[in-house]
Amino acid sequence: MGCIVAIGAQWGDEGKAKMIDFFSKDTDIIVRYQGGANAGHTVVVDGVKHVFHLIPSGILHEGKVCVIGNGVVIDPEVLLEEMELLESKGINLKGRLYISDAAHIILPLHKAFDEAMEEFRSNKIGTTRRGIGPAYSDKCLRIGLRMGDMFDKDILHERLTFDITLKNLYLEKVFSRNPFPPEKIFAIVEHFRGKVKDMVINTPHYLHTALDAGKKVLLEGAQGFALDIDHGTYPFVTSSNPTIGGALLGSGLNAFDIEKIYGITKAYITRVGEGPFPTEEKGEIGEMLRTRGGEFGATTGRPRRCGWFDLPLIRQARRINGITDMALTKLDVLSGLQTIKIAAAYRLDGKQIDYFPSAQLHRVEPVYTEMPGWQEDISACTSFASLPKQAQNYVRYIEKESGIKLSIISNGADRKSTFSVP
Ligand code: GDP
Ligand code: IMO
Ligand code: MG
Repeated sequence: MGCIVAIGAQWGDEGKAKMIDFFSKDTDIIVRYQGGANAGHTVVVDGVKHVFHLIPSGILHEGKVCVIGNGVVIDPEVLLEEMELLESKGINLKGRLYISDAAHIILPLHKAFDEAMEEFRSNKIGTTRRGIGPAYSDKCLRIGLRMGDMFDKDILHERLTFDITLKNLYLEKVFSRNPFPPEKIFAIVEHFRGKVKDMVINTPHYLHTALDAGKKVLLEGAQGFALDIDHGTYPFVTSSNPTIGGALLGSGLNAFDIEKIYGITKAYITRVGEGPFPTEEKGEIGEMLRTRGGEFGATTGRPRRCGWFDLPLIRQARRINGITDMALTKLDVLSGLQTIKIAAAYRLDGKQIDYFPSAQLHRVEPVYTEMPGWQEDISACTSFASLPKQAQNYVRYIEKESGIKLSIISNGADRKSTFSVP
C-alpha cells in the first residue's frame, strides 16, 4: 500500500494533469506509466500554463521525484525540449527525474511510419502522428530500442541498424517516402544518451525500495479508459493500456501496492480523432462546450469533439479499473445551459442496455435523462454547499448512477479551483 493511481475515465483530456498536480503535494514520487508524447497534460499555477507530454505533471512541486516508467515510449526530441523548458523556468531536474531503462525510444522513423500509415489507410484513426503505434509494435516485435540499450554499444548498433534498415524498406518500397540516413538516427541517439545518462535506472527496484521505506507513490495515466487498446473502441484507440493493468505493467508495481484509484472524469465528454462517440453534439451545444471549455488538443491543437456525460461508459470504466473515487472536472463549463442531458443507457438493436459494448458502440443510440441546468458562474465556488442546487443534483446523480464515490470537484483550470466533496 502507499500508492494511488489517477486514470482518465473517458476518451482522454479529462483534466488528469490538473488533478495529478493537486495530488502531488501529498506524494513523494510521481510515475508516468504509459503512452508517449501523444499526451498533452496541462497544469495552470497562478495563471501560468505548463504543458507536459512526457514528464510527470507533478514536477512543478519542489522536492518531489518524477519517474518515467517502463510502459512509456519516449521521444528524445520532446523529452529534451521539455527538460530544457523546465530548467529555463528555474526548475532543477537533478535528482528529481528518473527514467526506466526498459522504456522504449521513439525515433523519427516511428513518426514517419505513423504518418505514412495514417495516410495509407482508408479507415483513418486520426492518430497524433507522434510514432506511438509503430513504437509499441516494435516493442511487441522485439526489435525496439530501450533506454538502457543505448549504453551497450553492441546492442545499440545491432538493434538500430536492423530497425533503420527495416523501416527504410517500408518507407521507400511501400509508402514511396524518403529513407532516413542511418548516421542521422545514430546521432540523435548519441546526443540523447549523453543528456540522460545519469537518469536511467531500474525503476521497479527504485519504486519498491521507496514504498518499503514508507514513501507515497502516485501513478499518472495518459489517455483514458475508452482509448485503451484492449477495452476501448478498437481500432480507434491508442496502442497502450491507460487502464489499471497498464498502470501496474508500466510501473512494475503490483496490485497489493495500490491504495486508491481515482477516475479523472470530465463533467461532459470530449474525444479527439476518429471513432464512435454516442453522445456527441455536433451543433450549437457542441460548439458552446468547445469554446467555453477551451477544447482544443494540447498536443496537436485539433478541435475536440464534445458531447454529454455517458453513464454506461463510466460504469465500464469503474469496473475495468476498480475506480474507488471520482475527481469530476470542468463542472464550471456547464454553467448557462437550460437543460443538461446525460446518457443513462443505450439502445442497441432495439433493446435497451446499460453497459458499454465497445465493439458495437458505433451502432448504439443514447437514451437520455434530462436535468435542469444552472445559470450562475460557479468558478468562484470553494465548497459543495456553495454550488447551485441544480449543480449539486447533477453531480449527485452522476455519483449515484456511476456507483463511484465523488471525492473532488474541479471548477477551473487553476490549481486553486479544486475542492473536496464531503
Ligand atoms: P489531460 O490530458 O487529462 O491532462 O487534460 P488536458 O490538459 O489535455 O485538457 C484539460 C484542459 O482543461 C486543460 O486546458 C486544463 O487547463 C483545463 N482544465 C482542467 N480542469 C479544469 C476545470 O475544472 N475547469 C476548466 N474550465 N478547465 C479545466
Ligand atoms: P491525454 O493524455 C486525447 C487519441 C488520438 C487518436 C488515438 C490514437 O492528453 O489525455 P495515437 O497517437 O495515440 O496513436 O492516437 O488516440 N489520443 C488522445 N486523445 N487525449 C490524449 O492524451 C490522447 N492521446 C492519443 O487523438 O484518436
Ligand atoms: Mg490531454
